[in-house]
Amino acid sequence: MDFAAGTSPISPWRLSVAPMMDWTNRHCRVFHRLLTRRTRLYTEMVTTGALLHGDLGRHLNFSAVEHPVALQLGGSEPADLAACVSLACDWGYDEVNLNCGCPSERVQRGAFGACLMAEPRLVADCVNAMIDAASGRLPVTVKHRIGIDRGESYAFVRDFVGTLAGAGCSVFIVHARNAWLEGLSPKENRELPPLRYEVAHALKRDFPLATIVVNGGISTDAAIEEQLRHVDGAMLGRHAYHEPWAMSAWDRRFFGVEGPAASRAQVEAQWIDYLDRIHAAGTPWPHAMRHALGLWNGTPGARRWRQVWSDHRLRLEAPHTVAALASAARLAGSHLAV
Ligand SMILES: Cc1cc2nc3c(=O)[nH]c(=O)nc-3n(C[C@H](O)[C@H](O)[C@H](O)COP(=O)(O)O)c2cc1C
Repeated sequence: MDFAAGTSPISPWRLSVAPMMDWTNRHCRVFHRLLTRRTRLYTEMVTTGALLHGDLGRHLNFSAVEHPVALQLGGSEPADLAACVSLACDWGYDEVNLNCGCPSERVQRGAFGACLMAEPRLVADCVNAMIDAASGRLPVTVKHRIGIDRGESYAFVRDFVGTLAGAGCSVFIVHARNAWLEGLSPKENRELPPLRYEVAHALKRDFPLATIVVNGGISTDAAIEEQLRHVDGAMLGRHAYHEPWAMSAWDRRFFGVEGPAASRAQVEAQWIDYLDRIHAAGTPWPHAMRHALGLWNGTPGARRWRQVWSDHRLRLEAPHTVAALASAARLAGSHLAV
């Protein structure tokens, strides 16, 4: 099945929130869904080892409101990846994405992530096995960098994409900077290697039938729009996470439909209902709330609101009780700011 072509003129990959370890977990994705219905959401990376030998429910459970949601896998064993794709199908994911972009040393020791870009044949075998396992139930996509270490050859990434396209992959998420595999932390690797969007644009020209999504450093709606002139989609990570209210404009602006969020206050009310529910079920609500601390960013009183929600002395209180304190602090803060 050609998922990328679809029937709609709007690509399902037009806009997405990036996979981010420790950040884009289930709670975070539920929060993001209060802001945008159409943006595609990605899980944190889950390794094949964690899935095949760990607690499936912990790694794979998600709520129906999160659709469309993609599971990102880390691994390099075709049979293991295939087994994980079958699990993803059974659990109802909308996509499986293979991580070929993470530069962390832990990931390199496991021989996957960005170092896989040096082994396109192996990745092609992985993708082949994953597509077989999916047997048309969901698309298999790849997230990668534009090069590794100091290599700046366009042919390197073009051949990588070409090899995977030959193996049946038709959706590529291109983090438009190299991964420097030695001497940089993963955080530095998201900041120091220069962004070269033109490489992603060239990939779209060379592979016009593929869906090319560009990622890295995009932080305004105007920048998204600019990218969409060249490629099929934009994926945002840190900006979406830190400035979540920005997402409330996306459904209308990029998909032409009404979004779910009328106001920050409405989003906050729905989010507190969610926090109350998980609190009643015994989950410590700060695990979820930390992903929503940016909701009021940019408005008067936002800092006071965040401070109340982050106050450890309140962590055993019911969320709606903390919410009342936080709102009062925000409003007091906004009056002070006037
Ligand atoms: C905290 C954090 C965790 C990340 N974890 C992953 C991950 O699990 N898998 C992945 O492919 N990329 C991961 N990334 C990289 C992002 O998906 C994205 O490629 C990167 O942040 C660049 O996009 P941005 O500039 O819009 O944030 C992570 C980034 C951050 C900030």
